[in-house]
Amino acid sequence: MPDVTLDRIAAAKTLQELEAARVALLGKSGEITAKLKSLGAMDPGARAAEAPKVHALREAVTKAIADKKAALEGAELDRKLATETLDLSLPAPEAVRGTVHPVSQVMEELAEIFADLGFTVAEGPEIEDDWHNFTALNFPQDHPARAMQDTFYLEPRPGEEQKLLRTHTSPVQVRVMNSQPPPIYSIMPGRVYRSDSDATHTPMFHQVEMLVIDRDIHLGHLKWTFETFLKAFFERDDIVLRLRPSYFPFTEPSAEIDVGYTLVNGRRVLGGSEGFMELAGSGMVHPNVLRACGLDPDEWQGFAFGCGIDRLAMLKYGMDDLRAFFDGDIRWLKHYGFRALDVPTLSGGVGA
Ligand code: DAH
Repeated sequence: MPDVTLDRIAAAKTLQELEAARVALLGKSGEITAKLKSLGAMDPGARAAEAPKVHALREAVTKAIADKKAALEGAELDRKLATETLDLSLPAPEAVRGTVHPVSQVMEELAEIFADLGFTVAEGPEIEDDWHNFTALNFPQDHPARAMQDTFYLEPRPGEEQKLLRTHTSPVQVRVMNSQPPPIYSIMPGRVYRSDSDATHTPMFHQVEMLVIDRDIHLGHLKWTFETFLKAFFERDDIVLRLRPSYFPFTEPSAEIDVGYTLVNGRRVLGGSEGFMELAGSGMVHPNVLRACGLDPDEWQGFAFGCGIDRLAMLKYGMDDLRAFFDGDIRWLKHYGFRALDVPTLSGGVGA
C-alpha cells in the first residue's frame, strides 16, 4: 500500500494533480484519514500493531507531497526562466522621437552667449498688470502710444484690477529693477501676445529683452553689446549694424537696430551690408522708467533692447514661415528640431 500511495504522488505532473492526490489521501474523507479514524474502533492489541504503521504512512505521504510540490515549483520556475529571456543581441528600439524646438534652442543659445558676457537670465509673468506693461514704462494714460501694441485683455475678476497678456518682455525690466539693486546685467526671454495674425505675425511670439543699468552707461555700450551678441549668435565677424532714430515711450533716445545682410542664392544671410533689415528696438532707459523703479537717473543710466526670438531662429536656421513654428507638426519638428543632448556651448559653437 505505501508504495502504491507514494507512486500516485510521484506521478503527479502538475501542482493541480498533486493537490488532487493530497485531498484523496489526507483530506477529510481521504484514504489515510479514514485509516486514522478506523484505529479508534480497533481492540487495543490490533491498534498497537496498526497505529505506528498508519502514522508512519501519514508522515511519509506528507513529506512526499512537500518534496513533490517543491520539485514542481522549481520546474515551473525553470520553464519561465527559459522562455522569458531577454536577447541582448537584438537591435535597440528606435531612438527618442522628440526634438527640442528651435525657439527653445535659441533661448538656450542666448543664455549661453549672455552668460559669457556676465548677464543673468530673468523671467516675469505672462499675465501682467497695466502698470508693469505700460504705466511704469512711461506709456502715459490714454496716450496713443498704448495703441502701438494690440493688447489682449482678460475678463476682469470682481474687485480686482483688469489683467492683460503682456505685449512685450519690457515689463520684466521693471520687475528686475524693482527686485534688485543696480548694477544690473540681465536678459529676459519669454512669450508675448498681440492681437495680430498673418504670415509674419502670430498672436503669441517670443522676445528677448536685454537690460543694463550701471554708472556712465552710453549708446556705445548698447551698440557693442548687440554687435558682440550677433557675432557670437551667427558665428561670423562681418556683422554690420545701423542704428536708426525711432520712438519708444520707455527709452530716450530710441533707436531701431538694423543689421546688414548678403543675398546668397536669393536668401538673406546675416553679415555684410548688401541690404539692411530691422532686428531690434533699443535705446537708453528713459529717466521716468528709472524713477518708476526707484532709481535716481542722475546716478544710474542704462540701455535696453528688445528683439524677436522667432525672427532670430528663422534667420539662423533658414525657416520661412513663422506660423509653422506653432503648428506642432511633428514632421517640421523632426526636420528643424534639435536633439535633446545638443546643448549649446560657446566652445562647441552655439549652433552645434
Ligand atoms: N518692447 C518693444 C516692442 O515690443 C521693443 C523694445 C524697444 C524693447 C526698445 C526695448 C527697447 O527694450 O529699449 O516693440
